[in-house]
Amino acid sequence: MKNIDSISHVTGRSLYVDDIPVRTGTLYGVVFTSPVAHGNIIKLDTSGAESMDGVTGVFTAKDIPGENQIGGIIPDEVLFADKKVVFHGQPLALVVAKDEFTARKACAKIVTDIEPLEVVTDPREACNKGMLLVPPSTFRSGDIHKAWDQCAHIFEGKTETGGQEHLYIETQGAYAYLMENGHIKIRSSTQGPTHVQKSAAEILGIPMHRVEVDVTRLGGGFGGKEDQATAYACMAALAAMHLQKPVKLILHRLDDMRMTGKRHPYSADFRIGLSGALKIVAYQATFYQNGGAAADLSPAILDRSLFHSTNSYFIPNTEVTAYSCKTNLPPNTAFRGFGGPQGMYIIEAAIAKAAHELNVPASVIQEKNLLRENDPFQYGQVAKNVHIGKCYQMLDKEFGIKKIAGEVAFFNQENVLHKKGMALMPVCFGISFTNKSMNQARALVHIYQDGSVGVSTGAIEMGQGVNTKILQVTSRTLNIDPERIKIESTNTTRVSNTSPTAASSGADLNGKATEIACIQLRKRLIKTAGSILGVNPGRLAIYDGWVTCDGKRSKLSWEKLVKTAHLERVCLSEQGHYATPFVHFNKETAKGHPFAYHVYGVALLVTHLDCLRGTYRFDKVCIVHDFGNSMNIDIDMGQVEGALAQGIGWMTMEEVSYDKEGKLLSNSLSTYKVPDIFSAPRQVVCIPLPVKGPKPAILRSKAVGEPPLMYGIGAYFAIQNAIKAFNPSYVPDFDAPMTPEKVLMRLYQ
Ligand code: MTE
Ligand code: HPA
Ligand code: MOS
Repeated sequence: MKNIDSISHVTGRSLYVDDIPVRTGTLYGVVFTSPVAHGNIIKLDTSGAESMDGVTGVFTAKDIPGENQIGGIIPDEVLFADKKVVFHGQPLALVVAKDEFTARKACAKIVTDIEPLEVVTDPREACNKGMLLVPPSTFRSGDIHKAWDQCAHIFEGKTETGGQEHLYIETQGAYAYLMENGHIKIRSSTQGPTHVQKSAAEILGIPMHRVEVDVTRLGGGFGGKEDQATAYACMAALAAMHLQKPVKLILHRLDDMRMTGKRHPYSADFRIGLSGALKIVAYQATFYQNGGAAADLSPAILDRSLFHSTNSYFIPNTEVTAYSCKTNLPPNTAFRGFGGPQGMYIIEAAIAKAAHELNVPASVIQEKNLLRENDPFQYGQVAKNVHIGKCYQMLDKEFGIKKIAGEVAFFNQENVLHKKGMALMPVCFGISFTNKSMNQARALVHIYQDGSVGVSTGAIEMGQGVNTKILQVTSRTLNIDPERIKIESTNTTRVSNTSPTAASSGADLNGKATEIACIQLRKRLIKTAGSILGVNPGRLAIYDGWVTCDGKRSKLSWEKLVKTAHLERVCLSEQGHYATPFVHFNKETAKGHPFAYHVYGVALLVTHLDCLRGTYRFDKVCIVHDFGNSMNIDIDMGQVEGALAQGIGWMTMEEVSYDKEGKLLSNSLSTYKVPDIFSAPRQVVCIPLPVKGPKPAILRSKAVGEPPLMYGIGAYFAIQNAIKAFNPSYVPDFDAPMTPEKVLMRLYQ
């Protein structure tokens, strides 16, 4: 089935926040932000802006009737800075005017006096100064101290990974307006409508039931709107409440880039020990996460880095400690993979280091240490239905790892100024929110009198195709034509207390809730059909718009059945509630069963380096991916390709850079380069692993949103291998992204 949004996307009819027809009297907001990264606010004078023609209001911390607090996990983040500013671009005020241009001009009239304080942007420096967002976390297995004695080889190193700008096509924004009796409705571009609802209620000092949040779709989120959409929704709501007028606030691209948090940069130290037979015996690492100025989702992201610190390998003795460091940068946040990619890069760097020192291909070490059935993860969960070995074998069978390695070596022999490099990237990614309580969802399904169906869930459509998948679940469970089904907007009054659409589990959680509701409705309707037809309901089914009896079409159509059921006063609406079974995790002991299942896959990447220019391209990426039983292979392949491109971008060309004063330098699309069609791999071949999907996956179709991003990590090591082929004295270092500038330096160092 095609993505139900394709036509409206390509014809420009899909509605985003900025496309909502505005109500009469709508006003426009622009955020005034801190010009410095750290300081005491001595003066914030908004009078110049307020007196400007066309300006209807300027709102600051003192205008907040409720609590000036939007922290998601811990309450450490204000909506508007009041006494101190802690990052460059931190909101100080919202200027509201008759149009955006006037509001922007008025911002320039605001006068501040901020006493500068020391700016820290480096996570290790912050850690040394004791500036941590939360206490450090450690995951352990085996006995790391004894393990070193059993190692034939021990290697150490240091790694850096950079930030990443989400660059959703639709920037952050919200439109807030009053309903009857001063209730407020917010149209928000958020992955987490309930977080918006809760925070707006707290900011306004009103109960949650007075705030309605509605989301049609997002022009991309990628984690950047898991909780960072909240601030702008709260600001629009605050102004709307004060002015009693509709207020729209859409961030300009450049403001979005400088104000919002990104993927967390990590700095890390590792130590890896191997046996003579190249089994990894011990792995020790310390992660320094650059959290930015407030916790945001950093603690949960830190946890996921630990969960994925051994990627798809079994390592009997491990000790990994992670620090979430408080720096004067915009609070960093969720980004596809949620800390997993950072953790995986470090173990891959450790393996690359060992491979270099021992002069063996990294793939040999990777293969020897792949996770096997019933191996315990370092967090206690025992690995079941492990497919990583199968993915590896299938990749080899389909593409020939040795054959490709031979082609690369031959090319490198024949060419002086062009070199190729290859790398393998296995991935094992856990599916579920690592916070147990978030693994729940609800769906509300209405069958209307005419037989058409409306489905509401907590899922947010952000391009990943979750609405299409939920429509498929409904269609398959009720056994009716997809044309009869409509997926409604995500609205907090129809489906409440939602988890954000994140952790790749949007389709699993909301799809299961939809399935539960549809099964109930189907049962009820079959029972009704039984009494209409006067036969035992056990003989009946719904098939293709008709009731069937013993597999043969009866004279009762779906429409007739629904209509009769309604006349008979049978309830045609149902709410389904789903909570993922068996997941738990004890933070004290760092042990448990946090994931419903894992997604596996292996990628092989071949890069082609121009050794005069330092530029590179990717010739091909071959992937074997474990989709389970994909319910929509076109959508899922799209997720693999998009995530791969995003992963390669993070590892190669995307370089978030701040100056020492904490000001974003890569603040536009001319200074921050994202992959485009020209930098996409020349060839991407992805083969689905033929295996049965697990039960907690919706229709046994595994979650797919995040895992393939990590295939992109192989890009770094492929380029590194190409550099080695040109410059034998290059000692591999681990400082991502591997930009062309860095490549050039390494070719001739
Ligand atoms: N795909 C598109 N097109 N746009 C997005 O914003 N977000 C990714 C992924 N794929 C994203 C996307 C992220 S970060 C997650 S967690 C999942 O989609 C969320 O959706 P799902 O849970 O329905 O897979
Ligand atoms: N993944 C994504 N988002 C989250 C998670 C997670 O594990 N936990 C809390 N928010
Ligand atoms: Mo995705 S980073 O879990 O929104």
